[in-house]
Amino acid sequence: MFMITVDEGFDEPLSKMTHRRTDLSDLVALLVSAVWCKNSREFPPGFIFGAATASYQVEGAWNVSDKGESIWDRFVHTNPDAIKNGENGDVAADSYHNWQQDIDIASDIGLHFYRFSLSWPRLLPSGFINNKSEDGKNYYNKLIDGLLAKGIEPVVTLYHWDLPQSIQDLGGWTNPLIADYFADYADYVFNTFGDRVRTWLTINEAISVCDFGYNSGLTAPGIKEPIYGTYLCNKHMLIAHAKAYRIYDRYYRSTQHGKVSFANNLLWIEPLTPADEELAELGLQHSAGRYSHPIYSKKGGWPPSIERFMEDYSRKQGFNISRLPRFTKEEIKLIRGSYDFYAFNHYTTRLIRPAQPGEDTGFWFLTGSPELNAVLVSDPSWPSGASEMMLVYPKGMRRMIAWLRKEYGDLPFFTTENGYSTSGHKLNDPDRIKFIKDYLEQVLLSIWEDGAKVFGYTYWSLIDNFEWTDGYGVKFGLYEVDYNDTSRTRTQRESARYFSDVIRTNLIDCDVTET
Ligand SMILES: *[C@@H]1O[C@H](CO)[C@@H](O)[C@H](O)[C@H]1NC(C)=O
Ligand SMILES: *[C@@H]1O[C@H](CO)[C@@H](O)[C@H](O)[C@H]1NC(C)=O
Ligand SMILES: *[C@@H]1O[C@H](CO)[C@@H](O)[C@H](O)[C@H]1NC(C)=O
Ligand SMILES: *[C@@H]1O[C@H](CO)[C@@H](O)[C@H](O)[C@H]1NC(C)=O
Repeated sequence: MFMITVDEGFDEPLSKMTHRRTDLSDLVALLVSAVWCKNSREFPPGFIFGAATASYQVEGAWNVSDKGESIWDRFVHTNPDAIKNGENGDVAADSYHNWQQDIDIASDIGLHFYRFSLSWPRLLPSGFINNKSEDGKNYYNKLIDGLLAKGIEPVVTLYHWDLPQSIQDLGGWTNPLIADYFADYADYVFNTFGDRVRTWLTINEAISVCDFGYNSGLTAPGIKEPIYGTYLCNKHMLIAHAKAYRIYDRYYRSTQHGKVSFANNLLWIEPLTPADEELAELGLQHSAGRYSHPIYSKKGGWPPSIERFMEDYSRKQGFNISRLPRFTKEEIKLIRGSYDFYAFNHYTTRLIRPAQPGEDTGFWFLTGSPELNAVLVSDPSWPSGASEMMLVYPKGMRRMIAWLRKEYGDLPFFTTENGYSTSGHKLNDPDRIKFIKDYLEQVLLSIWEDGAKVFGYTYWSLIDNFEWTDGYGVKFGLYEVDYNDTSRTRTQRESARYFSDVIRTNLIDCDVTET
């Protein structure tokens, strides 16, 4: 139970009253926040709130009906040691069967939208357009129609990491033809669900796939290729996204009236010392920039500083041409401007400094960069949740948005993920409440103080799910899922009630304390 702290200014009777009855205290809380927080703590009219999940992380049913195998199915089954406790997403939260419960939860919280992803191999079992699954289509139709019946908007991601294994067998994201396979899939998806879906995200966190999956091998598809993999994947994901966007523009926009964008994962980077400022800027261009400049800048193409840097670095390494593949003029044009808003996931911040001689930088983009010869470190004062990677630094949210506006202009921004993890059985989660409040406060400062056009916020995640290599031990959900129970019972956490209040009142509390 959380409540508004009644400060010095308030006299006795009111503070006593707030403790007497829950109903009354809720009412008073609402009144107090309305009086104290109006203007500075209120979201603009029409601001939308939602929560997210992703297909492989919640659906389970990995082998039902004619569903094809995904790279995550293959990865967890062939590398159980890569996942904590050898867990996998075979059953997960079983949302394939429990989808109505997920909708009911979203409705109970009062979400304006639910962000989920489609499983490409569930819809197209062989990965290609010649083979469409009726059961896959029916599943997503039920989910979409069920959400709409409750007045919840579906926000749909086409690719949240579960690539058909058949396409991986042809090189996955290093194969340039993947852009055409993805375009076929996107065309099918827009055609099948676009009469009811208005907000689309093509690809989720390209950087997590390319700059981690293809060089560290620690996630699916488990490829350790630190020379070209990352950069080929980077380029082809941008082209795949752009092709999908252009298809929507050409064939669907005039009748479906939706919006399409790309969801980046943005790590905010600050210099460890003032001497590291240039390095921090290069670090931002090497992460956010490589996945944004081609789409959102006026000129398109790679960030100029990174293009130059990679050219020089590659030559020093003995390559004749840059490891960062060039774009043709046509490709630059195709990708540039392929957005309707800027979508981003933001969780955490790092400090950057040059590596010491012989120091292992690890892999970009959470530990360091061998190319930049830089190491990412944390500030000891930053706490983390159960996921130790996710250091909490709320100010990073506002600074990240300010950097994007400086680089790409005054775009409409949509926070498509932000969240906090706990571990163990824990329904009372003041840390998560504080996290949501502190990050939302920075969103509000961006809006009211800086003038940023942020139009929505998505909490990750609606329910506890399979957190990739962390398995089930790291829990981000507003609702707990009992993974020891075959029916995967969902139970509300305190944070779900808090988030629900934020949505209902359209403001964050003045001061939230645990009682
Ligand atoms: C599906 O996978 C499960 C393991 O998660 C296995 O027990 C079951 O036999 C499989 N079903 C089919 C039809 O292959
Ligand atoms: C569709 O793909 C699935 C999975 O790869 C396969 O079992 C099935 O035979 C394919 N059907 C057609 C018509 O190609
Ligand atoms: C590649 O670079 C080497 C020198 O490093 C040079 O001798 C060679 O001609 C170059 N090859 C091409 C195709 O440019
Ligand atoms: C299942 O229950 C045990 C204790 O009985 C607990 O240690 C474990 O974390 C639970 N597993 C999950 C996935 O919740």
